[in-house]
Amino acid sequence: MIVTTKKLFEAAYGKYAIGAYNINNLEQTMGLFRGNLMSNAPFIIQISRGSRDYTDKEMMQALITAADKIFPEAIFAVHLDHGDEATCYDCIDSNFYSSVMIDASSESFEDNIATTKRVVDAAHAKGLVVEAELGQLGGVEEHVNVSESGAKLTDPLKAKEFVERSGCDSLAVAIGTSHGAFKFSGSQSLHFDVLAEIQKQLPGFPLVMHGSSSVPQEEVERINKAGGKLLGAKGVDANQFKRAAELGVTKINIDTDGRLVWTRVHREYFLEHPEVFDFRKPGKIYMDEYAKFIAAKNEKLGSANQLEEVRKLVGK
Ligand code: G3H
Ligand code: 13P
Ligand code: ZN
Repeated sequence: MIVTTKKLFEAAYGKYAIGAYNINNLEQTMGLFRGNLMSNAPFIIQISRGSRDYTDKEMMQALITAADKIFPEAIFAVHLDHGDEATCYDCIDSNFYSSVMIDASSESFEDNIATTKRVVDAAHAKGLVVEAELGQLGGVEEHVNVSESGAKLTDPLKAKEFVERSGCDSLAVAIGTSHGAFKFSGSQSLHFDVLAEIQKQLPGFPLVMHGSSSVPQEEVERINKAGGKLLGAKGVDANQFKRAAELGVTKINIDTDGRLVWTRVHREYFLEHPEVFDFRKPGKIYMDEYAKFIAAKNEKLGSANQLEEVRKLVGK
């Protein structure tokens, strides 16, 4: 059942974080639903512009609608990840999405507020909620590429002003993470001091942590052993999620780790079975492995075993 992101935030705030997982295809969709049900967790499906363009935006909608029928016990929200203004309006008009992210973080403070406010007005008129971003994460995604030296941590006082003036419903904050598989070069780590200050300025307000894949070293080693070349890949320590949740982080974004599972499964499978060309064989393994990965991640986020509480809250 698709619910509003706002309800999930109400259930989780200060206690745990909801896993926001990026998906792009059928195998991820199946693994995602199975993993969340295995761990009895509410979740957020994230669709990026890259995902909408990988096949067609209608395809992602159709896959999720089918999964909702196959798994009627699941409770989840559908969220546009890193939207530009035009894509936000498209999603708001689709009557399918629960929430959108307007990512105007590369604009000036004033322009970021103005753009976010326009999207907020359009979204609220249709009952959707809006995530905005202040500060800049480092790293690479399809539409954004920020060098680590260009990354900027969120200023807590500006965060308060930004939320008040833009009317956004949740805020993505830059506290040291970056997108992709190569985080924390040098001695960087999460800036909990900055996060605590943001929470002090915005008590009770849902914060979002992007770039939160853990990039497990075991996964990287298996990929490299099977022919990959991911040198120096590093991620966020998942044992820090609960501390972040206590400080107001209510949504934690994970994409890269799921891609690493896909890469490991396929590299290992075809290396071990060079005679096979039936892609359904590694595809099935991937669905199982992705489901196990999601269930394990939800334990770290604290969202595992929260499904029944959320069901009561949404009254279904
Ligand atoms: O933060 C960005 C997500 O990882 C989406 O990546 O734009 O390559 O789909 P993408
Ligand atoms: P990762 O690259 O760490 O998985 O971050 C994903 C993300 O922030 C999606 O918006
Ligand atoms: Zn992101």
